Amino acid sequence: MKTIYPIAVIPGDGIGGEVITEGIKCLNALSDLHGGLKFEFTMFPWGSDYFLKNGFMMPADGLTILKDFQAVYLGAVGDPRVPDDVTLHGLLLPIKMGFDLYVGLRPAYLHDGVSSVLAGMSPGDIDLVVIRENTEGEYSNVGGIVGHADQALAVQSSVFTRKGVKRIIEYAFEYARKNGRGKVTSLTKSNAQRYGMVLWDQIFREVSSKFTDIRHESKLIDAACMDAVRSPGNYDVIVASNLFADILSDLTAGITGGMGLAPGGSFNPDDKTVPGLFDPVHGSAPDIAGKGLANPIAAILTAKMMLDFLGEFKAAAILSGAVRKQLAEKKIRTRDLGGASKTCDAGDDIVRILREVN
Ligand code: NAD
Ligand code: IPM
Ligand code: MN
Repeated sequence: MKTIYPIAVIPGDGIGGEVITEGIKCLNALSDLHGGLKFEFTMFPWGSDYFLKNGFMMPADGLTILKDFQAVYLGAVGDPRVPDDVTLHGLLLPIKMGFDLYVGLRPAYLHDGVSSVLAGMSPGDIDLVVIRENTEGEYSNVGGIVGHADQALAVQSSVFTRKGVKRIIEYAFEYARKNGRGKVTSLTKSNAQRYGMVLWDQIFREVSSKFTDIRHESKLIDAACMDAVRSPGNYDVIVASNLFADILSDLTAGITGGMGLAPGGSFNPDDKTVPGLFDPVHGSAPDIAGKGLANPIAAILTAKMMLDFLGEFKAAAILSGAVRKQLAEKKIRTRDLGGASKTCDAGDDIVRILREVN
């Protein structure tokens, strides 16, 4: 008997559709090869084109529609024709916030066959996971702008709740324990941000004292950015607020081969009734959109994370194995990795490996 997973697909904007197509190709190949697994993809054309036609990024009952699915597979959102705050607050952020998908998981691994911009790095030397608080902090959407021109005044507040901070820090330690990772590093800026981040540090101390089997470290974000570039091996699991982890996950992508290789996923580990949201760390990349230049591997590894979320660990391992092999072979690669292959050729090559090894 086949397990059928209903998946909502939102290709979104720019390279979103190009990379998601390759991810779906790989998922369908896995399904062909393994009798027990089937995906039912439903496409939603939501995004900036939809906004320009209808005046909103997704219908008002968008979340009600998505709630019937086990996972949402999303490409990217963002289009130069529409202000970014409009597009992102119209689609990506309401999904994360509306479903309370408080965990944002963003692994960074230096694969065999990929050279880091950092000198002297060998495969596996960088192997860390950024755990991002997804629902509050600097993204709380509290504030406003009053006055015009020279009189303009803007207030942008960060909201940190004990509940919100405690659950993400606890998740980070539990994740470390479950995945055989020995250390959790918390990043804040509590020397300058005197309230929310002081509370965060206090809760980190409380929670870390209950996980005596896991080492812990609390660092300032500025120093950690420098240290992560000079000594990325110092990091294992990193837990940080919404904005800091957002910024840091582009940095960790940058030192492990770039945005084209960085996967991501958001979910609520305490509420199985809501779908997880799986989207690569990268954006819609308008500079390369529509040219077949995008690397689909970030989206394919994102599909792998979606399989883990669905409990399909064997299929997930097969997919990541195929990606690893494809990267190590160094034959078909997109421009960001120094090659000249197209997005679809890189996807086809991973499907070829999936078929060969199974
Ligand atoms: P970006 O991640 O889209 O691009 C940054 C750089 O990385 C660009 O040079 C781009 O060409 C390159 N790049 C990104 N993905 C790549 C891939 N798969 N293969 C090869 N190269 C790749 O960041 P940006 O330019 O700051 O943002 C563009 C738009 O995307 C903005 O509107 C932004 O708000 C939005 N954005 C959306 C998401 C999302 O939907 N999850 C994430 C980040 C940014
Ligand atoms: C990401 C993106 C988004 C975020 C933006 C586009 C709102 O940068 O997914 O990393 O910061 O959440
Ligand atoms: Mn980002």
